[in-house]
Amino acid sequence: MSKLPPVLQNLSLPVIASPLFIISNPKLVIEQCKAGVVGAMPALNARPAELLDEWLAEITEALAAYNQAHPDKPAAPFAINQIVHKSNDRLEHDMQVCAKYKVPIIITSLGAREDVNQAVHAWGGIVLHDIINNKFAHKAIEKGADGLIAVAAGAGGHAGVKSPFALIQEIRQWFDGPVALSGSIASGGAVLAAQAMGADFGYIGSAFIATHEARASDAYKQAIVEGSSDDIVYSNLFTGVHGNYLAPSIRAAGMDPDNLPESDPSKMNFGGDAKKAWKDIWGCGQGIGAINAVTSTAELVAKLRGEYEAARARLKL
Ligand SMILES: Cc1cc2nc3c(=O)[nH]c(=O)nc-3n(C[C@H](O)[C@H](O)[C@H](O)COP(=O)(O)O)c2cc1C
Repeated sequence: MSKLPPVLQNLSLPVIASPLFIISNPKLVIEQCKAGVVGAMPALNARPAELLDEWLAEITEALAAYNQAHPDKPAAPFAINQIVHKSNDRLEHDMQVCAKYKVPIIITSLGAREDVNQAVHAWGGIVLHDIINNKFAHKAIEKGADGLIAVAAGAGGHAGVKSPFALIQEIRQWFDGPVALSGSIASGGAVLAAQAMGADFGYIGSAFIATHEARASDAYKQAIVEGSSDDIVYSNLFTGVHGNYLAPSIRAAGMDPDNLPESDPSKMNFGGDAKKAWKDIWGCGQGIGAINAVTSTAELVAKLRGEYEAARARLKL
Protein backbone atom coordinates (compact mmCIF):
# COMPACT_ATOMS: atom_id res chain seq x y z
CA MET A 1 0.00 0.00 0.00
CA SER A 2 1.09 3.55 -0.60
CA LYS A 3 1.96 6.43 1.66
CA LEU A 4 -1.29 8.31 2.12
CA PRO A 5 -1.76 12.04 2.65
CA PRO A 6 -3.06 12.78 6.18
CA VAL A 7 -6.60 13.48 4.92
CA LEU A 8 -6.91 9.88 3.68
CA GLN A 9 -5.48 8.22 6.77
CA ASN A 10 -7.71 6.86 9.53
CA LEU A 11 -10.86 6.04 7.55
CA SER A 12 -12.75 3.42 9.54
CA LEU A 13 -13.19 1.44 6.30
CA PRO A 14 -10.96 1.89 3.22
CA VAL A 15 -13.78 3.11 1.02
CA ILE A 16 -14.45 6.25 -0.98
CA ALA A 17 -18.12 6.67 -1.94
CA SER A 18 -18.16 7.87 -5.52
CA PRO A 19 -19.92 11.02 -6.74
CA LEU A 20 -23.21 10.22 -8.50
CA PHE A 21 -24.66 12.65 -11.01
CA ILE A 22 -28.13 13.88 -9.89
CA ILE A 23 -28.24 11.29 -7.07
CA SER A 24 -25.64 12.50 -4.51
CA ASN A 25 -26.76 15.28 -2.18
CA PRO A 26 -25.62 16.74 1.16
CA LYS A 27 -27.72 14.28 3.20
CA LEU A 28 -26.05 11.29 1.52
CA VAL A 29 -22.54 12.81 1.79
CA ILE A 30 -22.98 13.63 5.49
CA GLU A 31 -24.18 10.09 6.28
CA GLN A 32 -21.31 8.53 4.30
CA CYS A 33 -18.73 10.63 6.19
CA LYS A 34 -20.35 9.95 9.56
CA ALA A 35 -20.25 6.23 8.79
CA GLY A 36 -16.47 6.52 8.29
CA VAL A 37 -16.05 6.47 4.50
CA VAL A 38 -15.22 9.42 2.26
CA GLY A 39 -18.51 10.93 1.07
CA ALA A 40 -18.64 12.58 -2.35
CA MET A 41 -20.91 14.64 -4.57
CA PRO A 42 -20.57 16.27 -8.01
CA ALA A 43 -20.59 20.10 -7.79
CA LEU A 44 -23.00 20.02 -10.74
CA ASN A 45 -25.70 18.39 -8.60
CA ALA A 46 -26.28 21.75 -6.91
CA ARG A 47 -28.61 23.54 -9.32
CA PRO A 48 -28.74 26.46 -9.77
CA ALA A 49 -25.01 27.01 -9.22
CA GLU A 50 -25.68 29.36 -6.26
CA LEU A 51 -26.98 26.35 -4.31
CA LEU A 52 -23.45 24.91 -4.05
CA ASP A 53 -22.49 27.46 -1.39
CA GLU A 54 -25.50 26.46 0.72
CA TRP A 55 -24.78 22.74 0.29
CA LEU A 56 -21.11 23.08 1.25
CA ALA A 57 -22.11 25.10 4.31
CA GLU A 58 -24.56 22.35 5.28
CA ILE A 59 -21.95 19.59 4.88
CA THR A 60 -19.13 21.40 6.69
CA GLU A 61 -21.37 22.49 9.58
CA ALA A 62 -22.91 19.02 10.03
CA LEU A 63 -19.50 17.31 10.02
CA ALA A 64 -17.98 19.88 12.39
CA ALA A 65 -20.87 19.35 14.84
CA TYR A 66 -20.50 15.58 14.54
CA ASN A 67 -16.74 15.77 15.17
CA GLN A 68 -17.28 17.91 18.22
CA ALA A 69 -19.70 15.36 19.63
CA HIS A 70 -17.48 12.38 18.67
CA PRO A 71 -13.86 13.52 19.13
CA ASP A 72 -12.67 9.91 19.47
CA LYS A 73 -14.43 8.76 16.28
CA PRO A 74 -14.47 11.72 13.85
CA ALA A 75 -16.21 11.67 10.48
CA ALA A 76 -14.31 10.86 7.30
CA PRO A 77 -13.50 13.82 5.01
CA PHE A 78 -15.72 14.68 2.04
CA ALA A 79 -14.97 15.14 -1.65
CA ILE A 80 -16.44 17.29 -4.38
CA ASN A 81 -16.33 16.14 -7.99
CA GLN A 82 -15.54 18.61 -10.74
CA ILE A 83 -16.22 17.67 -14.35
CA VAL A 84 -13.17 19.23 -16.02
CA HIS A 85 -14.63 19.18 -19.52
CA LYS A 86 -15.14 22.14 -21.81
CA SER A 87 -18.92 21.72 -21.73
CA ASN A 88 -18.87 22.51 -17.97
CA ASP A 89 -19.27 26.29 -17.96
CA ARG A 90 -19.64 26.40 -14.16
CA LEU A 91 -16.15 25.14 -13.33
CA GLU A 92 -14.67 28.52 -12.37
CA HIS A 93 -17.63 29.43 -10.17
CA ASP A 94 -17.73 26.02 -8.51
CA MET A 95 -13.98 26.06 -7.84
CA GLN A 96 -14.31 29.43 -6.10
CA VAL A 97 -17.01 28.04 -3.81
CA CYS A 98 -14.85 24.98 -3.07
CA ALA A 99 -11.95 27.33 -2.23
CA LYS A 100 -14.20 29.23 0.20
CA TYR A 101 -14.93 26.01 2.12
CA LYS A 102 -11.40 24.55 1.63
CA VAL A 103 -12.91 21.29 0.37
CA PRO A 104 -10.47 18.59 1.55
CA ILE A 105 -10.66 16.36 -1.55
CA ILE A 106 -11.48 17.26 -5.15
CA ILE A 107 -12.22 14.44 -7.58
CA THR A 108 -11.65 15.48 -11.19
CA SER A 109 -13.08 13.62 -14.15
CA LEU A 110 -13.11 13.93 -17.94
CA GLY A 111 -9.86 15.88 -18.34
CA ALA A 112 -6.79 16.74 -16.23
CA ARG A 113 -5.95 20.40 -15.65
CA GLU A 114 -2.86 21.79 -14.04
CA ASP A 115 -4.55 25.05 -12.99
CA VAL A 116 -7.33 23.16 -11.19
CA ASN A 117 -4.79 21.02 -9.32
CA GLN A 118 -2.77 24.07 -8.29
CA ALA A 119 -5.87 25.87 -7.05
CA VAL A 120 -6.81 22.89 -4.85
CA HIS A 121 -3.28 22.65 -3.44
CA ALA A 122 -3.33 26.39 -2.68
CA TRP A 123 -6.18 25.90 -0.20
CA GLY A 124 -4.60 22.72 1.25
CA GLY A 125 -6.78 20.15 -0.53
CA ILE A 126 -5.79 17.10 -2.56
CA VAL A 127 -6.89 15.99 -6.03
CA LEU A 128 -7.83 12.47 -7.06
CA HIS A 129 -8.24 12.05 -10.80
CA ASP A 130 -10.44 9.53 -12.55
CA ILE A 131 -8.73 7.47 -15.28
CA ILE A 132 -9.60 4.41 -17.39
CA ASN A 133 -6.10 3.44 -18.57
CA ASN A 134 -2.42 3.74 -17.67
CA LYS A 135 -1.75 6.43 -20.29
CA PHE A 136 -4.32 8.78 -18.74
CA ALA A 137 -2.96 7.89 -15.30
CA HIS A 138 0.51 9.13 -16.30
CA LYS A 139 -0.98 12.31 -17.73
CA ALA A 140 -2.98 13.01 -14.56
CA ILE A 141 0.04 12.68 -12.27
CA GLU A 142 2.24 14.72 -14.64
CA LYS A 143 -0.34 17.51 -14.41
CA GLY A 144 -0.20 17.48 -10.61
CA ALA A 145 -2.99 15.19 -9.34
CA ASP A 146 -2.14 13.64 -5.96
CA GLY A 147 -3.84 10.32 -6.52
CA LEU A 148 -5.77 8.20 -9.01
CA ILE A 149 -9.15 6.59 -9.27
CA ALA A 150 -8.74 3.61 -11.56
CA VAL A 151 -12.10 3.08 -13.24
CA ALA A 152 -12.09 -0.52 -14.44
CA ALA A 153 -14.63 -2.56 -16.39
CA GLY A 154 -18.10 -2.87 -14.93
CA ALA A 155 -18.22 0.53 -13.20
CA GLY A 156 -21.48 2.44 -13.06
CA GLY A 157 -21.79 5.58 -15.16
CA HIS A 158 -18.86 6.30 -17.45
CA ALA A 159 -16.64 3.24 -17.31
CA GLY A 160 -13.56 1.75 -18.90
CA VAL A 161 -13.03 -1.71 -20.33
CA LYS A 162 -9.88 -2.77 -18.50
CA SER A 163 -9.74 -5.64 -16.07
CA PRO A 164 -9.02 -4.23 -12.59
CA PHE A 165 -6.11 -6.70 -12.29
CA ALA A 166 -4.43 -5.31 -15.40
CA LEU A 167 -5.12 -1.66 -14.60
CA ILE A 168 -3.88 -1.69 -11.00
CA GLN A 169 -0.76 -3.71 -11.73
CA GLU A 170 0.26 -1.32 -14.53
CA ILE A 171 -0.29 1.74 -12.35
CA ARG A 172 1.56 0.24 -9.37
CA GLN A 173 4.67 -0.32 -11.53
CA TRP A 174 5.37 3.41 -11.42
CA PHE A 175 3.00 5.15 -8.98
CA ASP A 176 3.15 4.72 -5.20
CA GLY A 177 0.63 7.43 -4.27
CA PRO A 178 -3.03 6.95 -3.33
CA VAL A 179 -5.08 4.75 -5.68
CA ALA A 180 -8.77 3.91 -5.40
CA LEU A 181 -10.18 1.10 -7.52
CA SER A 182 -13.58 1.55 -9.10
CA GLY A 183 -15.88 -0.86 -10.88
CA SER A 184 -18.46 -3.33 -9.52
CA ILE A 185 -17.26 -3.10 -5.91
CA ALA A 186 -20.32 -3.58 -3.72
CA SER A 187 -19.18 -5.88 -0.90
CA GLY A 188 -16.60 -5.72 1.88
CA GLY A 189 -14.80 -8.72 0.38
CA ALA A 190 -14.37 -6.82 -2.88
CA VAL A 191 -12.87 -3.86 -0.95
CA LEU A 192 -10.30 -6.23 0.59
CA ALA A 193 -9.62 -7.71 -2.87
CA ALA A 194 -8.95 -4.22 -4.22
CA GLN A 195 -6.37 -3.72 -1.47
CA ALA A 196 -4.82 -7.13 -2.15
CA MET A 197 -4.37 -6.06 -5.77
CA GLY A 198 -2.50 -2.92 -4.72
CA ALA A 199 -5.22 -0.28 -4.42
CA ASP A 200 -5.63 1.68 -1.18
CA PHE A 201 -9.40 2.09 -1.37
CA GLY A 202 -12.48 0.60 -2.92
CA TYR A 203 -14.47 3.27 -4.78
CA ILE A 204 -18.16 2.46 -4.55
CA GLY A 205 -21.01 4.10 -6.44
CA SER A 206 -24.00 2.02 -7.51
CA ALA A 207 -24.46 0.34 -4.12
CA PHE A 208 -25.18 3.76 -2.57
CA ILE A 209 -28.04 4.40 -5.01
CA ALA A 210 -30.10 1.83 -3.08
CA THR A 211 -30.03 3.88 0.14
CA HIS A 212 -32.77 5.99 1.71
CA GLU A 213 -30.64 9.14 1.42
CA ALA A 214 -29.90 8.82 -2.31
CA ARG A 215 -31.87 11.14 -4.57
CA ALA A 216 -33.16 8.42 -6.90
CA SER A 217 -36.69 7.21 -7.60
CA ASP A 218 -38.02 4.17 -5.74
CA ALA A 219 -38.21 2.32 -9.07
CA TYR A 220 -34.47 2.97 -9.68
CA LYS A 221 -33.56 1.76 -6.17
CA GLN A 222 -35.73 -1.33 -6.61
CA ALA A 223 -34.15 -2.10 -10.01
CA ILE A 224 -30.76 -2.19 -8.25
CA VAL A 225 -32.07 -4.50 -5.54
CA GLU A 226 -33.62 -6.85 -8.10
CA GLY A 227 -30.95 -6.56 -10.79
CA SER A 228 -27.68 -8.35 -11.49
CA SER A 229 -24.78 -7.97 -13.93
CA ASP A 230 -27.05 -9.52 -16.60
CA ASP A 231 -29.11 -6.31 -16.56
CA ILE A 232 -26.21 -3.95 -17.28
CA VAL A 233 -25.68 -2.55 -20.78
CA TYR A 234 -22.48 -0.79 -21.95
CA SER A 235 -23.22 2.01 -24.44
CA ASN A 236 -22.01 5.43 -25.55
CA LEU A 237 -25.43 6.48 -26.85
CA PHE A 238 -26.56 8.62 -23.93
CA THR A 239 -23.67 11.04 -23.33
CA GLY A 240 -21.16 10.28 -26.10
CA VAL A 241 -18.88 8.46 -23.63
CA HIS A 242 -19.18 4.72 -22.94
CA GLY A 243 -20.91 3.88 -19.70
CA ASN A 244 -22.95 1.19 -17.95
CA TYR A 245 -26.73 1.46 -17.58
CA LEU A 246 -29.67 -0.58 -16.32
CA ALA A 247 -31.44 -2.32 -19.23
CA PRO A 248 -34.97 -1.94 -17.74
CA SER A 249 -34.64 1.87 -17.88
CA ILE A 250 -33.57 1.71 -21.53
CA ARG A 251 -36.60 -0.47 -22.32
CA ALA A 252 -38.87 1.93 -20.41
CA ALA A 253 -37.54 4.76 -22.60
CA GLY A 254 -38.75 2.83 -25.67
CA MET A 255 -35.38 1.45 -26.85
CA ASP A 256 -34.03 -2.07 -27.30
CA PRO A 257 -31.03 -2.42 -24.94
CA ASP A 258 -29.64 -5.24 -27.11
CA ASN A 259 -29.62 -3.12 -30.27
CA LEU A 260 -28.55 0.39 -29.36
CA PRO A 261 -26.98 2.57 -32.06
CA GLU A 262 -23.49 4.08 -31.61
CA SER A 263 -23.28 7.74 -30.65
CA ASP A 264 -21.21 10.51 -32.21
CA PRO A 265 -18.40 11.27 -29.66
CA SER A 266 -18.22 14.92 -30.84
CA LYS A 267 -21.68 15.35 -29.30
CA MET A 268 -20.31 14.66 -25.81
CA ASN A 269 -22.27 16.86 -23.46
CA PHE A 270 -22.53 17.31 -19.73
CA GLY A 271 -24.91 20.27 -19.72
CA GLY A 272 -28.72 20.28 -19.57
CA ASP A 273 -29.18 17.41 -22.04
CA ALA A 274 -27.01 15.18 -19.90
CA LYS A 275 -29.28 15.77 -16.92
CA LYS A 276 -32.27 14.70 -18.99
CA ALA A 277 -30.51 11.57 -20.26
CA TRP A 278 -29.37 10.50 -16.77
CA LYS A 279 -32.77 11.06 -15.24
CA ASP A 280 -34.50 8.58 -17.53
CA ILE A 281 -31.61 6.24 -18.29
CA TRP A 282 -30.24 4.82 -15.07
CA GLY A 283 -26.47 4.54 -14.71
CA CYS A 284 -25.38 1.43 -12.81
CA GLY A 285 -22.37 -0.86 -12.41
CA GLN A 286 -22.19 -4.65 -12.64
CA GLY A 287 -21.72 -5.25 -8.89
CA ILE A 288 -25.34 -4.88 -7.83
CA GLY A 289 -25.89 -8.61 -7.30
CA ALA A 290 -24.51 -7.91 -3.78
CA ILE A 291 -27.31 -5.43 -3.00
CA ASN A 292 -30.45 -7.11 -1.71
CA ALA A 293 -32.37 -4.33 0.02
CA VAL A 294 -32.79 -0.57 0.15
CA THR A 295 -31.23 0.47 3.48
CA SER A 296 -29.91 3.55 5.23
CA THR A 297 -26.40 4.65 4.29
CA ALA A 298 -25.25 3.80 7.82
CA GLU A 299 -26.62 0.26 7.43
CA LEU A 300 -24.93 -0.20 4.05
CA VAL A 301 -21.54 0.90 5.43
CA ALA A 302 -22.01 -1.35 8.48
CA LYS A 303 -22.75 -4.27 6.14
CA LEU A 304 -19.62 -3.50 4.07
CA ARG A 305 -17.56 -3.28 7.27
CA GLY A 306 -18.88 -6.66 8.51
CA GLU A 307 -18.10 -8.31 5.17
CA TYR A 308 -14.64 -6.73 5.09
CA GLU A 309 -13.82 -8.04 8.57
CA ALA A 310 -15.23 -11.48 7.73
CA ALA A 311 -13.08 -11.65 4.59
CA ARG A 312 -9.98 -10.67 6.60
CA ALA A 313 -10.77 -13.36 9.17
CA ARG A 314 -11.35 -15.97 6.44
CA LEU A 315 -7.92 -15.17 5.01
CA LYS A 316 -6.41 -15.06 8.52
CA LEU A 317 -5.22 -11.46 8.01
C1 LIG B 1 -25.68 6.96 -11.64
C2 LIG B 1 -24.21 7.25 -11.66
C3 LIG B 1 -23.79 8.56 -11.79
C4 LIG B 1 -22.42 8.85 -11.81
N1 LIG B 1 -22.03 10.15 -11.88
C5 LIG B 1 -20.71 10.46 -11.81
C6 LIG B 1 -20.29 11.81 -11.81
O1 LIG B 1 -21.09 12.76 -11.86
N2 LIG B 1 -18.96 12.07 -11.73
C7 LIG B 1 -18.04 11.06 -11.66
O2 LIG B 1 -16.84 11.33 -11.58
N3 LIG B 1 -18.40 9.75 -11.67
C8 LIG B 1 -19.72 9.45 -11.73
N4 LIG B 1 -20.11 8.12 -11.71
C9 LIG B 1 -19.10 7.06 -11.68
C10 LIG B 1 -18.67 6.75 -10.29
O3 LIG B 1 -17.90 7.83 -9.87
C11 LIG B 1 -17.84 5.45 -10.14
O4 LIG B 1 -16.79 5.37 -11.04
C12 LIG B 1 -18.70 4.23 -10.25
O5 LIG B 1 -19.93 4.41 -9.64
C13 LIG B 1 -18.01 3.05 -9.62
O6 LIG B 1 -18.58 1.84 -10.04
P1 LIG B 1 -19.82 1.13 -9.30
O7 LIG B 1 -21.00 1.98 -9.63
O8 LIG B 1 -19.86 -0.20 -9.96
O9 LIG B 1 -19.53 1.10 -7.85
C14 LIG B 1 -21.47 7.81 -11.70
C15 LIG B 1 -21.92 6.49 -11.56
C16 LIG B 1 -23.26 6.20 -11.52
C17 LIG B 1 -23.72 4.79 -11.32
